[in-house]
Amino acid sequence: MNCLGIESTAHTFGIAVVSDKEKILSNEKEVFTTSSGGMIPNKVAEHHKRVCDSVLKKALEKANVKIEEIGLISYSHGPGLSPALVVGKDFAKSLALNHKKNIIGVNHCIAHLTIGTLVTPAKDPVYLYVSGVNTQVIALAGGKFRIFGETLDIGLGNALDKFGREAGLGFPAGPVIEKLALEGKYIELPYTVKGMDVSFAGLVTKTKQLLEKGEKVEDLCYSIQETCFAMLAEVSERAMAHCEKNELLLIGGVGANKRLIEMLEKMCSERNAKFYSVPLEYAGDQAAMIAWQGILEFNAGKRISEIDIYPYERVDDVDVIWQQSKLEL
Ligand code: ATP
Ligand code: FE2
Repeated sequence: MNCLGIESTAHTFGIAVVSDKEKILSNEKEVFTTSSGGMIPNKVAEHHKRVCDSVLKKALEKANVKIEEIGLISYSHGPGLSPALVVGKDFAKSLALNHKKNIIGVNHCIAHLTIGTLVTPAKDPVYLYVSGVNTQVIALAGGKFRIFGETLDIGLGNALDKFGREAGLGFPAGPVIEKLALEGKYIELPYTVKGMDVSFAGLVTKTKQLLEKGEKVEDLCYSIQETCFAMLAEVSERAMAHCEKNELLLIGGVGANKRLIEMLEKMCSERNAKFYSVPLEYAGDQAAMIAWQGILEFNAGKRISEIDIYPYERVDDVDVIWQQSKLEL
């Protein structure tokens, strides 16, 4: 069976074709961008409406599959921006009705996790999910993905981008901060770990003050990285100990950062655990993960009674009824 996946939770509108023989046949996307990096939900939705037909055409052509050869349509039903979610849901619904296909809605964040175990050797890891909006430490326990720790305010990517805006580094700031940090030295910043949770807002405010005082941007970049990444390493390590898991899987856009990878690798090797990070192509938002999650849930017997969106659904709202499996890329 081939599944056509549709992603539209935020800035990315993506369509992919994935076969249940665990092969990704195509993975096309168009990304809404602005110079400021801001996202007005209705503008994002307009963008997605404009590009949906052409992305579909490209995804089918690239996969060399006709719409008749699609057995299942899977769309991301949340969490995300409602107007953007509606575009994906309506597009999925019209394709399913017009071509008489099965349809299923899946959780976007869970799809990030399961594509990670599909494309890396990780079997049952603790997941460190660090994107723009999300910073969560997650693990499968008792039939659900449980959030063991998370940010109490903003996601790390957004924190880096906020600092970047103040320092005039452009958007997204993460990669620029990574580069400038190579020239920096350490200045103490607020290190905030509360139980298993972390917080970045106070640190961002502090760096703004230090910028105004004339501290070097390079030093601030270095210190933000060292402080925030150490906080993440600490809570990830504690989650691994608590859940008795010996693998860590890094997911999300901030996972591109080499210093973060280095610190997590060191922490894992010190406790004899394996560290994996998701290849860039599958680390950010894309539709292959939505198609794959659709296949997993459909094959496990899930059927939906309503074609709807769930803008606030969390990973621990969903029962894990499927078995993980592997893909040789
Ligand atoms: P979400 O999936 O939560 O909606 P998103 O789609 O914005 O958020 P991603 O695309 O996963 O998130 O990640 C984008 C974030 O990753 C940005 O905040 C960006 O600054 C950050 N980022 C990208 N590359 C790096 C890097 N090399 N180092 C640090 N941060 C990075
Ligand atoms: Fe995402």
